[in-house]
Amino acid sequence: MATAELAGKHLVLGMSGGIACYKIAELTRLLTKAGATVQVAMTEAATQFITPVTMQALSGRPVYTSQWDTRIDNNMPHIDLSREADAIVIAPASTDFLAKLAHGMADDLLSTLCVARDCPLLVVPAMNRQMWLNPATQRNVAQLRADGVEVLGPDSGAQACGETGDGRMLEPEATYEAIASFFTPKILAGRRVLLTAGPTFEPLDPVRGITNRSSGKMGFALARAAQQAGADVHLVAGPVSLETPWGVYREDVQTAQQMHDAVMRAVGNYDIFIGVAAVADWRIDHVAEHKIKKNADRSLPTFMFVENPDILASVAKLPHPPFCVGFAAESGNLDVHGEEKRVRKNVPLLIGNLGPLTFGLDDNEVVLFEAKGATKLPRADKRTLARALITEIAKRLPDTRLIT
Ligand code: CTP
Repeated sequence: MATAELAGKHLVLGMSGGIACYKIAELTRLLTKAGATVQVAMTEAATQFITPVTMQALSGRPVYTSQWDTRIDNNMPHIDLSREADAIVIAPASTDFLAKLAHGMADDLLSTLCVARDCPLLVVPAMNRQMWLNPATQRNVAQLRADGVEVLGPDSGAQACGETGDGRMLEPEATYEAIASFFTPKILAGRRVLLTAGPTFEPLDPVRGITNRSSGKMGFALARAAQQAGADVHLVAGPVSLETPWGVYREDVQTAQQMHDAVMRAVGNYDIFIGVAAVADWRIDHVAEHKIKKNADRSLPTFMFVENPDILASVAKLPHPPFCVGFAAESGNLDVHGEEKRVRKNVPLLIGNLGPLTFGLDDNEVVLFEAKGATKLPRADKRTLARALITEIAKRLPDTRLIT
């Protein structure tokens, strides 16, 4: 969350009553950390769950709770508070508040703000499962969707009341991700993206293996950026301990062969393939069935290696390949190795970096290699870079399946 990806965005964060109000403290922190300004407005009921003092401290702005508030010069907070806003986000959105929104009611500051808005409205429902399933609630939600309101969630799972089911508010991180996604231009709308990410793990015996220092961060950041840009995203991930990006379908694998098989099974349905994984080039010919023990005479074990399939090259060789993007982590002489690798793998675009300077770090510097030459992108954190790379890939899509 280190990036200021919502810099310049102004949000009205409207809170209606519900136990999920505690989640909004964290959501406010995430939004402000990402550079957004957050104007909190609360219903009377919301103030029963968390105080305006807490929300003021976290948002760094006075909190409004009443339409009769005299702090606004023209005494029209219901108009003034939303005029600068890029969106109003209602979180948590209670059953009652959704009903009011669906009917255009305006009997307190927050509902009046929503009716008087000239910006998009996002709602994050939070309620008991029976309240969510109630036909009246479902009717109201359908009406809100038809009116162009974005409904984020709800989640499913354990509820504050002790019951389990649909209606839980999305966690703050997921709500943040959905809001960030809402603001991302949909340059990959309708596109389907398949990616590999992370290292692979090649076993020697049941407890040991060979792997590498790839953290998976760049591949996961690209999967997130592609999803936010409107693509349908399938991420085939080696062993990494990273959260699955919001809205991304993830398939976990261990070995290069498993990664290859997962990609080849799926690839026919995708129009872009991005190979970010640091795939092990070799595996052990025969994996020992039991843990390899030290020999009494201290002789060293020997291993025979066999070559793993080259996933990117296999995809690029298909009769109707998707638009293929490769990555190259080199330890030096990037300019030579990058272009040589692009040609060898037969891909229109290869993104090169110096591996030891980026493994495990949050930022990266890359060079784009393509037939018309090389272009360096400025050093940036991996999320910013991922957005820039998705933009670069989107720009090149008309050239799909053509290597000039
Ligand atoms: N790659 C792949 N399957 C492999 C090896 C590499 O799909 N078995 C992909 C990587 O995901 C990356 C690109 O190929 O997109 C380049 O990976 P890299 O490890 O830099 O290249 P290698 O082909 O392994 O070349 P070398 O080890 O000789 O540098």
